[in-house]
Amino acid sequence: MTIKEYVKQRKEEIKTLIDGMERKPHITIVQLNEDAASNAYVKGKLKDADELGVVATLEKLPIDTSEEELLSFIEKLNNDDSVDGFIVQMPLPKQISEEKVKLAVSPKKDVDGFHPLSQLAPCTPKGVMNYLHAENVQIQGKNALVIGRSNIVGRPMAKLLLNESANVTVVHSKTSPEDMARFIENADIIVVAIGKAGFLDNRFKYKKDATIVDVGISRDETGLHGDAIPDLPVLRQTPVPGGVGLLTRLALYENLLDIVNNK
Ligand code: GUN
Repeated sequence: MTIKEYVKQRKEEIKTLIDGMERKPHITIVQLNEDAASNAYVKGKLKDADELGVVATLEKLPIDTSEEELLSFIEKLNNDDSVDGFIVQMPLPKQISEEKVKLAVSPKKDVDGFHPLSQLAPCTPKGVMNYLHAENVQIQGKNALVIGRSNIVGRPMAKLLLNESANVTVVHSKTSPEDMARFIENADIIVVAIGKAGFLDNRFKYKKDATIVDVGISRDETGLHGDAIPDLPVLRQTPVPGGVGLLTRLALYENLLDIVNNK
């Protein structure tokens, strides 16, 4: 099944669940920056909400909002019973600390899964796990390699794979090229999230039955590129675009449903 097919099917399931709810889940999106990328992400999230039957409110705040003003706005949403979950669209303008904002969002409403005490996983690793399950990829006892150690993808990805008893290795910018090649050659599952277009290419050897999940997304004048070149000699490789980005978008609403269902 392609990711597009999986996402379409899962969206229909979620829509049916929400259709059966008396009170529709409500998400609020707080946006300060209006750069092209943020506008595109927000537009995608609102479109998904509309398709799923989720009530979505977009709260646009001025770009010169102070940190104090944003934190008190967040506090208001934390205490607003009509809002089930909310996100503050990143990146934020310079005058505001993203770390402070992540800590200010109540873990009970943190659909991004950014708060250290959040019970919810960040959307990208969660979406990747959902996809591996949908594809029946064996995880237990398998060699899972996570390339990249960011707080939003690499680290939580490693934890989720470990929770399902994979043999997890995390490699990063300080890993030697020899070790990198050795780990790649032995990996059954590779999740690559370093933002280097075409990093995984034919200079490496791969297991024939490996699954490569490509989280990278880089843009140049020729279009969008993943961290892996297309068509590596493996069993399964997620495309860019039309791959993990769709899983991340869906996971936001999986998290929202988890919040509503655990109330
Ligand atoms: N900016 C880019 N992706 C994301 C995301 O998943 N959540 C938030 N809050 N901001 C983003």
